Amino acid sequence: MKVTVSLNVNGEAWELSIEADRTLLDVLRTELMLTGTKTNCLEAECGVCTVLVDGMAVNSCTVLAVTAQGRQITTIEGLARDGELHPLQQAFIDRGAVQCGYCIPGMILSAKAFLDEHPSPTDGQIREALAGNLCRCTGYQKIVDAVQDAARVLRRERRR
Ligand code: FES
Ligand code: FES
Repeated sequence: MKVTVSLNVNGEAWELSIEADRTLLDVLRTELMLTGTKTNCLEAECGVCTVLVDGMAVNSCTVLAVTAQGRQITTIEGLARDGELHPLQQAFIDRGAVQCGYCIPGMILSAKAFLDEHPSPTDGQIREALAGNLCRCTGYQKIVDAVQDAARVLRRERRR
């Protein structure tokens, strides 16, 4: 059965006619063509499908699109501002924290939700916060270093 769903994604309002049992992940990728959100396990194990819902990191493979109505959804495509990469995106590039890249959108969105709440984290806290985002390439240290770099930039920005 199809239902009409209103979604706000990256500041843009969408009205879609979709099956009630479709996941947010599926709708983002196949209706809105926001393929930066990746797909893999489909059972909340790997974190590649992470998006922000009202600022909280969630596995979009386990969220029905209908339940995301009235929420602010942010995907990796919505993180840059005025043509400038978010400090996390820039730090991942500068630190060489990206290899195949498949895990990175979810990793960065989890890191954003975490840094919004913990602006001065330890390395251990970062590792804990990103424990639900698996990476098979990098060994994680460069990712932790990138998150620390971004945290420093964001703290500087907040002081301005
Ligand atoms: S695809 Fe959603 S957690 Fe793996
Ligand atoms: S960079 Fe390849 S899975 Fe993380």
